[in-house]
Amino acid sequence: GKGEYDHFMLKEIHEQPTSLAQAIEGRIDPEAGRISLEGFDPGTFEGVDSVQLVACGTSYHAALYGSLALNSAGVQATALLANEYSVAAPPVDDDTLVIAVSQSGETADTLSALRRAKRHGADTLTVTNVVGSTAAREADDALFIRAGPEIGVAATKTFSSQAVMLVLLAQRIADDTRGEVPADLESLLPDLARMPEGIDDLLETSEADAVARHYLDSEAFFFIGRGLGFPVALEGALKFKEITYEHAEGFASGELKHGPLALVTPETPVFAIFTGEEDEKTLKNAEEAQTRGAPVIAVCPADHRAVEVADDHLEIPDVDSDLAGLFANVQLQLVSYYAADLLGRPIDKPRNLAKSVTVE
Ligand code: F6R
Repeated sequence: GKGEYDHFMLKEIHEQPTSLAQAIEGRIDPEAGRISLEGFDPGTFEGVDSVQLVACGTSYHAALYGSLALNSAGVQATALLANEYSVAAPPVDDDTLVIAVSQSGETADTLSALRRAKRHGADTLTVTNVVGSTAAREADDALFIRAGPEIGVAATKTFSSQAVMLVLLAQRIADDTRGEVPADLESLLPDLARMPEGIDDLLETSEADAVARHYLDSEAFFFIGRGLGFPVALEGALKFKEITYEHAEGFASGELKHGPLALVTPETPVFAIFTGEEDEKTLKNAEEAQTRGAPVIAVCPADHRAVEVADDHLEIPDVDSDLAGLFANVQLQLVSYYAADLLGRPIDKPRNLAKSVTVE
């Protein structure tokens, strides 16, 4: 049941300290600087020369997050929408690893992309929440995110666990294919070990409900981010439109000036996500929106320069940039939840949507 919460979505947002602890349990050793993924011993990915990640919706945003983590670990990787894969798949061969990212493991588009990859000789792997799902049975290997059942149609806790598992997998793949562990592991693993506690603190202190209330009457809601902040901006907007039925869009920060800026008015708040990846550029992009009258809500650490500039602030801890966006994402989940609640939306079962989309 929902317990003390009004909705499954809010319950599942609050379960993230637990679901993340379950995801990393036994899989990281911060002292030794080691990652151990059961079933994926060192050497498993030797011979992989490129990675394609296929997924839909929120899982696609996690896949994009994973592809960026792979790229920055020095591995060639691309995230692709599973529903585009049949008409727009890049070439694969037996040195390609195709990773199907799917909470349910039953999404028809994702299964069809997985099957296509197999037919073309790729190695396949699924990152999923459901043991015994079709994806888990059909892929060559499965990495389980251990998030526990997710009832709300809007994916929340499964997104953060997918992203974390893909960040870990990226290090494992980089280690196997390049023979070197990327340098940032030393800051990543301790920050990851502390993440459940960090998310707990964020949930306790979040002012997302006040922010949601403040901007409720706006015409549209924009989300911008750079690097790993970009998939988080896309995810922030998807969650927002899905459960509030308001117009929301996510952009790469630097894209704002290439078109979307025409939409920016005092009636379009801009949520700017700062992950420590060229933040000064993102701040400049946010200021360009602010100059057109848009309120800017900075999602960043307390001592960040953006706090001075922005109209509102949602705090995240100062952590490794591989993880910062996932904290920002939790703040944005809460903004969407509270906005939808204030608007009287059904939240757990948005109109026209199903938890698992089993048709192409
Ligand atoms: C959005 C949402 C959907 C799913 C998508 C893929 O909140 O939940 O966008 O992410 O339908 O579902 P899975 O991950 O089960 O393949």
